[in-house]
Amino acid sequence: MQINAVDILILGAGWTSTFLIPLCKERNVSYAATTRDGRDGTIKFEFNSDAPTGNSEEEKEEDKYRTLLPDAKTVVITFPIKQKGASERFVRRYVKTRKVVKPEEVGFVQLGSTGVWDGQRKGSAAPAGPPKPVTNKWYDRHTPITPGERADAEAELLALCPEFKTTVLNLVGLWGGARSARNWVNRVAPTKEALRLKVSGPGYTDVPDPLSEANEPVVQGSIHLIHGLDISRAILAVHANFEKAQGQRWILSDGRVYDWWDLASAWGLPNPNSAPAPAEGSAQGGEEEDGERGPHPRMIISKTNRRTIYENLFKEGVLVAKKDFNAPKHEELDVPNLQVIKAMQSLTSKGFVKTQFSWQWYYYVLTPEGVEYLREWLHLPAEIVPSTHKKAVRPPRPAQVRQGGEGAYRPPRGGDREGYRGKKDESAPGDYRPQFAGVGRGGPRE
Ligand SMILES: NC(=O)c1ccc[n+]([C@@H]2O[C@H](COP(=O)([O-])OP(=O)(O)OC[C@H]3O[C@@H](n4cnc5c(N)ncnc54)[C@H](OP(=O)(O)O)[C@@H]3O)[C@@H](O)[C@H]2O)c1
Repeated sequence: MQINAVDILILGAGWTSTFLIPLCKERNVSYAATTRDGRDGTIKFEFNSDAPTGNSEEEKEEDKYRTLLPDAKTVVITFPIKQKGASERFVRRYVKTRKVVKPEEVGFVQLGSTGVWDGQRKGSAAPAGPPKPVTNKWYDRHTPITPGERADAEAELLALCPEFKTTVLNLVGLWGGARSARNWVNRVAPTKEALRLKVSGPGYTDVPDPLSEANEPVVQGSIHLIHGLDISRAILAVHANFEKAQGQRWILSDGRVYDWWDLASAWGLPNPNSAPAPAEGSAQGGEEEDGERGPHPRMIISKTNRRTIYENLFKEGVLVAKKDFNAPKHEELDVPNLQVIKAMQSLTSKGFVKTQFSWQWYYYVLTPEGVEYLREWLHLPAEIVPSTHKKAVRPPRPAQVRQGGEGAYRPPRGGDREGYRGKKDESAPGDYRPQFAGVGRGGPRE
């Protein structure tokens, strides 16, 4: 079926499109996508960078564009163009063969890489031998690029502006989906020694860098990363406001500097010869990737466990956890205790939970913002509210852990309170099980 006009034409439905297509669907942005073999309902199209101009071959090529490619307001070129003149030929050929959109209405986005600033460490222009260690230099999108096939083709595309709307998005290291940090960290640093060589030299390692376009060894202490979803958001932002982006190149990064040692400690799998394989759902591995977190050292909590924690917190509005980082299981939930503590720590830092600590127990109370956040996370309808927020006669107010007063947490009767006061770090009695004695004002009276 011939598609006549779409918002976005994705030339090359590879990894990026696995994020871009769902986002287009979510935002009701119409799209069409190509691959070289026409798989999965895509348009079969191959860009011929050598296609000549000015003869019958050109007419054939134009026919191909006319019949295969739909009109689009934004054309995203995901594959590298490397031949001189090919970027310009593509743009002119595409606009010439349009049926509905006018040439000045079409925007062209070229996805590139930050390799254009590589200082000749890579690519055909690089000197023979080991790459030079990266110097500590500040790069931004205005830093002059290093000439090379790809960089020149990008510059050629940008130079077409203002006659045509063009922009280049230079991407840092990619992660997400099939490009799981877990996979590439272990390929880059299969051993501690390989990691040591990679980050500090003496200058060279035989381990190819999967984040390098040429998959060649690179010495670097840290890297920048971008998730496929963020790339897709940027593409749609450009599509919605092309005038602001056109004629310029942009660096797409999540803005963090990732240290290789941190990445390896967060994502590296233990050596199978030296340690038993981690149990499914354990804090060390075997978990599904959590879309919320970046590839940086935080505890990995499987989605199932996170759901258990969040569901319980949402249901009750409150949660307690013993300060025991090694307890294999939380007192009530079938989740390692440390994961509960870490999940609550993260919610606390975002203002979704208020935490108090007493007698070696953590007391967590969901805030109104937390209710909204968890409701969205758990896909719950608005009428479902936590126990502590039910039957509220006033604007809902979260339960609070206070000393004294109605609704406050009360230590168990009969405890040796004098003794407790006397010793600073004293724990609660062994059989002590804390409870929230009530809820904030306006809460239920059962
Ligand atoms: N790897 C990295 O870490 C890294 C870092 C920064 C930037 N980048 C750049 O980011 C961009 C997007 O990457 P990506 O991972 O989404 O790319 P990708 O998965 O390799 O997808 C590229 C798509 O382009 C298609 N394609 C390739 N040559 C073509 C041609 N001559 N004519 C028509 N279609 C062609 C491929 O078709 P088939 O599917 O049929 O093969 C594929 O669908 C690329 O330009 C890449 O160089 C990569």
